[in-house]
Amino acid sequence: MRIAVCPGSFDPVTLGHLDIINRASKLFDKVIVLVSFNASKSRARFSSKERMEMIMAVTKHLDNVVVDCYDGLLADYLKMSNATAIVKGLRAVSDFEYEFQMALANKKLYNDAETVFLTTTGENMFLSSSVVKEIASFGGDIDGFVPEEILETIKNRLHKPD
Ligand code: PNS
Repeated sequence: MRIAVCPGSFDPVTLGHLDIINRASKLFDKVIVLVSFNASKSRARFSSKERMEMIMAVTKHLDNVVVDCYDGLLADYLKMSNATAIVKGLRAVSDFEYEFQMALANKKLYNDAETVFLTTTGENMFLSSSVVKEIASFGGDIDGFVPEEILETIKNRLHKPD
């Protein structure tokens, strides 16, 4: 069985993430969407539990996708879960250097792990959780940025009118 891990902060999950998860689910027997800890992102707006719940809500149509959370090294999680691939989306050249560095580090930590990059579809090129948070915090329209099922949860949480 070919198991892939799709790691990320997912604070919150966006349509860009969902597109990558959808496509990964067709390439692998099982995909674990892993809410992971990014040391360079200090303050998450949603708890790990909330982030997992949102991902579960938007992936429930995908039979071979499960959601988990881990605050240790991704390479260790791969070993524990018998996964052999890390799937990540690449938006632009600007993503590349950072992603390339992580792929090499993960390979060094766990030689059986291959990082597979899927190129983001055109309409999601600009999309990121940070953009969603910024727009939502000003009460802007995030329809078309995040899956419909979690739209209200995100709006209610992030928009604090003064
Ligand atoms: O969505 P993000 O924040 O770009 O995802 C980055 C993430 C969480 C996948 C990365 O920071 C990560 O793998 N964190 C787990 C800890 C780890 O293994 N760090 C070393 C990676 S080389």
